[in-house]
Amino acid sequence: MSIIIRVEDLRAVYLVREGTIKAADGISLDILENSVTAIVGESASGKSTIIEAMTKTLPPNGRILSGRVLYKGKDLLTMREEELRKIRWKEIALVPQAAQQSLNPTMKVIEHFKDTVEAHGVRWSHSELIEKASEKLRMVRLNPEAVLNSYPLQLSGGMKQRVLIALALLLDPVVLILDEPTSALDVLTQAHIIQLLKELKKMLKITLIFVTHDIAVAAELADKVAVIYGGNLVEYNSTFQIFKNPLHPYTRGLINSIMAVNADMSKVKPIPGDPPSLLNPPSGCRFHPRCEYAMEICKKEKPKWIRLDGEAHVACHLYEEGRPLK
Ligand SMILES: Nc1ncnc2c1ncn2[C@@H]1O[C@H](COP(=O)(O)OP(=O)(O)OP(=O)(O)O)[C@@H](O)[C@H]1O
Ligand SMILES: [Mg+2]
Repeated sequence: MSIIIRVEDLRAVYLVREGTIKAADGISLDILENSVTAIVGESASGKSTIIEAMTKTLPPNGRILSGRVLYKGKDLLTMREEELRKIRWKEIALVPQAAQQSLNPTMKVIEHFKDTVEAHGVRWSHSELIEKASEKLRMVRLNPEAVLNSYPLQLSGGMKQRVLIALALLLDPVVLILDEPTSALDVLTQAHIIQLLKELKKMLKITLIFVTHDIAVAAELADKVAVIYGGNLVEYNSTFQIFKNPLHPYTRGLINSIMAVNADMSKVKPIPGDPPSLLNPPSGCRFHPRCEYAMEICKKEKPKWIRLDGEAHVACHLYEEGRPLK
């Protein structure tokens, strides 16, 4: 599979009164064409920041300090706004976190479709619009006749999420990015959305990138998993390998914590300590204060992002020192 998006050493911060929040610090990641990639990490680890920096949709106090985001070989970060506008939605579509709240309660669903088309400079007649919107709504298993004339308030959370996915698919993007597509939904509705995304993956030739704090959702859907801790990418591997043989001590901790829900409670081993402050992150490896394998070097030097066998990437001194986790 070829690489469709290559992220190189991406660094993004937020400017706040107290200083800078180092929310994405040196992220490098290759996204494979027609694959499903999950970006996984606990709350406030920087998942949305990575997505927003990649798509240049950071909030006004966000700043990209360095890096490149190559899409078909072109850097999205240095591209002229006009050129980027041609790619947004038509090639790369994003459903941001909590996008449900951005649906305008005074506008019917059809008007949201109309707005999207107009905002991206596409000229369709009214009947074309209805036809394409209906096609996408059917694709997400909604009844267009009922939904197009509804107001957002008349739809359930799961239906709104489907409408947002249909809107994102409207211009047939090559890459679809979803930030927390299943959070804020009840468990059953979550399962339906996961099922839908699986169907879309089969039905369409599309590259899917999604963010989740729930590694179990990643296990269900993703081909590859990128694990974020405290604004750093710590591991990237095939989903199979992430679960079979987690390399980073943090990934291992995360996996232990979900196994506990499904199986033997006596094996629960929560990771001691708290997530780091991104205003004043720990020196060296940001995970070192919580890591049972921490060595002197971990306090001093940030581990390099290294490639091991096959698709495995990890940032951990154990591997630089040739002492892999057993
Ligand atoms: N606009 C902002 N201004 C200041 N700090 C911000 C801003 N947005 C996010 N942050 C901070 O940056 C860090 C990373 O936030 P981010 O939203 O990327 O995390 P996340 O992994 O997506 O979390 P969640 O799972 O809760 O969505 C957090 O410490 C967060 O508080
Ligand atoms: Mg987020």
